[in-house]
Amino acid sequence: MTEEPIDEPEDERRDTAPESADETTQAVPLPDGEGSWTPRADGGAVDDVALDPWGSSTVDDYRNLFEQFGIEEFDALLPEVPDPHYLMRRGVIFGHREYDRVVRAMREGEPFAALSGFMPTGDPHVGHKLVFDELIWHQEQGGDTYGLIADLEAHSARGLSWAEIDEHARDYLLSLLALGFDPEEGELYRQSDNRRLQDLAFELGSEVNFSEMEAIYGFGGETSVSYMQSVVTQMADILYPQLADPKPTVIPVGPDQDPHVRLARDLAARTRYFGVTEAYASFEADPDERTVLARAYEERGAFADDPDRPRCVEAADWLASHDTPSDLHDPGALDSAIEKLRAAGKEPLRPRVRFLDRNATDDAFEALIEAIAGEKRVYEGHIDAFELSHENAEDLAREVELAHGGYGFLPPSSIYHRFMTGLTGGKMSSSVPASHISLLDDPETGYEKVKSATTGGRETAELQRELGGRADECPVYELYAYLLAGDDDEFAKEVYDECVGGERLCGDCKEQAAVLMREFLADHQEKREEAEELLADLDIEFDSARA
Ligand code: TRP
Ligand code: SF4
Repeated sequence: MTEEPIDEPEDERRDTAPESADETTQAVPLPDGEGSWTPRADGGAVDDVALDPWGSSTVDDYRNLFEQFGIEEFDALLPEVPDPHYLMRRGVIFGHREYDRVVRAMREGEPFAALSGFMPTGDPHVGHKLVFDELIWHQEQGGDTYGLIADLEAHSARGLSWAEIDEHARDYLLSLLALGFDPEEGELYRQSDNRRLQDLAFELGSEVNFSEMEAIYGFGGETSVSYMQSVVTQMADILYPQLADPKPTVIPVGPDQDPHVRLARDLAARTRYFGVTEAYASFEADPDERTVLARAYEERGAFADDPDRPRCVEAADWLASHDTPSDLHDPGALDSAIEKLRAAGKEPLRPRVRFLDRNATDDAFEALIEAIAGEKRVYEGHIDAFELSHENAEDLAREVELAHGGYGFLPPSSIYHRFMTGLTGGKMSSSVPASHISLLDDPETGYEKVKSATTGGRETAELQRELGGRADECPVYELYAYLLAGDDDEFAKEVYDECVGGERLCGDCKEQAAVLMREFLADHQEKREEAEELLADLDIEFDSARA
């Protein structure tokens, strides 16, 4: 177990997002934004949003997710995404972690994967459809796509019986297939009967201890061991697409799952055989100190007797008489770098890539030494290479790791979607039938639920004509934007404009939405029936022989 914090260094990722956010014209207004995802005026009211995978708290301050947790804004990346899904265009997908890695693979025709999981605790509803659609879209873009039933989690964390789980598991998979998931191209599985998954979970579990579970999830002495096992199982789910081959992988989820994503990203790094960093001399330096060293190296012409061979001590003297580089997170890094340089004395200051031995076997370490081309220097726990780019070094480290039995995982990426508002206001909840529309609801029931939904309308028709409706706060508008308008941006925009312009009144608007919902449900349920056959061919067990 290493002592690395769960948060991996942010600085590597921050500069990867394209900077063309301003060019993004949002065709369709967002449910509670103004034309594009904008932090709400009251953002910041909650200064401590807890992201809790099993809690019932709504995340009502998305801005905090960017500031506090380092989730990045999706909009900045949108122009790079080939043929983006409407949920992306409409800002329903609002955030990501390192999704640029996946986008790059998509654009370059390189392999990539997508995976998400569903806890079978109730009927699949319109909120789950978002994730189904996200998976299917990634599959259509050429990704290896996985959908899983988190039955171990449902049993251990939610206490559902196996009989209930079996029934719901079928329903989730049927809807996923009915919406267009191609099971020939992708993989569907249940956690409970996937042996490779459970073996991976076991291995990953040896990298996580109880203190960490406590810190991340608030587990305590009363938490059952199976519950904890369901967490490492989810870690295995997230890394599963990379078991055969490491590849960029996206996990589409709600932001409540972010703690899982962060832990999985950390585990991906922890299991690696070698870390690859940059260095300027034989000693170790932290990122801030490296910034200082890089500055000194750049300026070597100004202080070195022989600019082809600048010495550490010369750099120390020069730095001591110059201003601190202003881009340091830790201002103390200047002094500590100077101290290290002095201690290194006459050693040349020379850029290099460094391979750190993290979990390598002796054989792998030896093999890496062999494999490094050009000048290299071997130390106790690391190897310095002088003629390799960072990127080539990363590739080489992974190659050697894979050849010696390692996983070579890339940190998984994620995208986050907004939660839908319940039809009765507040949170959409699986346990409150009136708050959501189940994909199994009778089309007539769906119609009725929409008809009785709360709206963002005004008290009277007159006021509505005068002031316009509040589409931004309207669950019915959300239904249009998230589902009923489908790919038709024009239509979604029309509903929005007519609403806020006062031309649309809630009665008619709901009638239109209710009819569309009835059609959607009827059509979906027909497709579910057709999908029965596909599901039967899949050889997934729905009769758990468990108590
Ligand atoms: N924990 C998820 C939920 O509560 C379900 C889940 C299990 C999952 N494994 C996963 C989600 C892997 C995404 C990826 O719904
Ligand atoms: Fe909502 Fe439609 Fe009423 Fe506007 S007109 S507030 S979108 S129901």
